[in-house]
Amino acid sequence: MGEFKENLLVFGATGYIGAYILKEILKNKDSFGRIAIITSPSTVENKSEQLQNLKSEGVEVIVGDVTNPADVLNAFKGINTVISTVGRNVLAEQINWIQLAEKAPSVRRFFPSEYGTDIDYSPQSVHEIPHQLKIKVRAALKATTSLDYTYVVTGPYADGQMLAYLSPLAESARVIGTYDVKAKSATLIEDGKGKISLTTPKELRANGYSVGKLVVKALLHPEASKKRALKVNSFTTTPAEIVAEFEKQTGEKWNVTYTSLSELKELEAAAWENKVPMAPLYTLRRIWAEGGTLYAKRDNSLLDAEDNLETLADAVRDAILTQRSETQATDTRRLS
Ligand SMILES: NC(=O)c1ccc[n+]([C@@H]2O[C@H](COP(=O)([O-])OP(=O)(O)OC[C@H]3O[C@@H](n4cnc5c(N)ncnc54)[C@H](OP(=O)(O)O)[C@@H]3O)[C@@H](O)[C@H]2O)c1
Repeated sequence: MGEFKENLLVFGATGYIGAYILKEILKNKDSFGRIAIITSPSTVENKSEQLQNLKSEGVEVIVGDVTNPADVLNAFKGINTVISTVGRNVLAEQINWIQLAEKAPSVRRFFPSEYGTDIDYSPQSVHEIPHQLKIKVRAALKATTSLDYTYVVTGPYADGQMLAYLSPLAESARVIGTYDVKAKSATLIEDGKGKISLTTPKELRANGYSVGKLVVKALLHPEASKKRALKVNSFTTTPAEIVAEFEKQTGEKWNVTYTSLSELKELEAAAWENKVPMAPLYTLRRIWAEGGTLYAKRDNSLLDAEDNLETLADAVRDAILTQRSETQATDTRRLS
């Protein structure tokens, strides 16, 4: 008999981080059995080319309504590990999927949609508004009896795509922290010397450890990943070092302004009060500025993922290309 290979099902596979994670899974497809995704009829209509490409790479595309238990149970047939990469607007739905996964005889592991800030960083974390749904999802997983689970905690993304950490942000939000390649300007919190750990969503160097690669590593290290959060990242730096790298690579001096942490807290309170759609990002930026991405020890070594990490120079080079090439749209759902 051959070696057992897990059958995988991905939710949210054509989204921002889901697409990167699925790409890495496909690069390692020899390590897995079936690779399936469940997606909605509207995605089938709107992203037909992307889905066709996935099918040609061997991905099984299951079309269904993820809010319909029958469709979800049908997709779970024969699946061993569920990887959810759904956006913030669908996080609560995962609680139903977890309960259904318990009923599905083959499902043993569940990776909920995390891939961001550590929601259990300090006693204060439980009160943070953007964490609430992810906290409920973790509680639902903890309450199960038959499932193993893994929370892949990556910190903010070192990416130039709009709303990610190395992006320019819309004019009204620049005070919360920004790196703008076209305007050669940046806004840093406090003096810009506070440390922050970032992970690249894209693989920027051959076999570099991006978010997708770290998820694949977690899939392939079930014992090290069992019933726990894995706090992983590509590198630790400071906003001042990031600006210095942008200046080095663009060959020009940047205009740098500063927002104090107390000012950021006032802006954050006002954003929630005024129901500003980007309020969660204000909170996350404050958490990151307070050191919420720094750990006594990161978990990369548990996954054999300490070498060949992406670097600040790689990430800045990519962010420059992204910012120069993209007409960036602000999608407020995509808040880490
Ligand atoms: N660390 C960071 O800096 C950072 C940044 C961004 C996001 N994140 C985290 O990464 C995770 C994924 O976020 P994302 O930005 O990648 O998500 P996204 O692109 O907004 O959405 C991902 C997928 O969710 C599914 N989805 C969205 N709305 C749906 C609906 N109404 N019904 C059914 N499915 C729906 C879609 O799946 P289909 O592909 O099947 O259509 C979509 O492609 C979240 O947990 C988020 O907090 C972290």
